[in-house]
Amino acid sequence: AILKPGARPLAGHHVLVTSGPTHEPIDPVRYIANRSSGKQGHAIAAAAARAGARVTLVSGPVAIPDPPGVTTVHVETARQMLEAVEAALPADIAIMAAAVADWRAAEELDAKLKKDGTGAVAPLPLVQNPDILATLGRHHTLRPDLVIGFAAETNDLKAHAEAKLRSKGADWILANDVSPETGVMGGDDNTIHLVTTSGVEPWPKMTKTEVAARLVERIADRLGKSGS
Ligand code: CTP
Ligand code: CA
Repeated sequence: AILKPGARPLAGHHVLVTSGPTHEPIDPVRYIANRSSGKQGHAIAAAAARAGARVTLVSGPVAIPDPPGVTTVHVETARQMLEAVEAALPADIAIMAAAVADWRAAEELDAKLKKDGTGAVAPLPLVQNPDILATLGRHHTLRPDLVIGFAAETNDLKAHAEAKLRSKGADWILANDVSPETGVMGGDDNTIHLVTTSGVEPWPKMTKTEVAARLVERIADRLGKSGS
């Protein structure tokens, strides 16, 4: 259903959103990060707030403003993002749109790593970051009623998204085709497939604002069906 102007179908619900990249320090001047503008996650937070939800947005470093009507918590690293997400619980709906860095340096150096003059490259041991979406999807006590993730894929979109749905205990995955030919990385458009346990629904290419509005509609429909 298309939302009528002024409709507040998410009123009374707490929506928790992650957005942006995380920055994982290597030394005082360098970090590891994914490419992410934060546009999609911020648009979702704004749309949920317009639909009447109480919204907590946990954002990594981005160059865009905090959305209006939203409580925004700023973090740098994946571990800080997880901590802020857990601190924001309980939530009714969780939408994990952040491009979390999968790895961080095993040890953060206190001093700048220097070239040694020989051309030899210093080893950089990495360790895996915690998975924030999976932590919520499998939460024993405070699992949100609806746990939604993204999957940015360059190939085998549906298979990878279905695997993520299962492995992370999510209810829905918005699978985003980021293959270079779509040109969506960093841009204003997204090409989404909504992947749920009942199937895959392709959405037409649309702006990130439109994706946010459609997702909020879907959430409102689902709340309506579950009678809450
Ligand atoms: N995610 C997360 N915490 C992580 C990694 C990913 O919360 N440490 C979330 C993202 O916000 C997204 C979903 O998991 O909602 C899928 O992220 P993606 O990078 O596509 O999947 P990964 O499981 O990291 O797998 P890979 O990068 O190897 O494809
Ligand atoms: Ca990843």
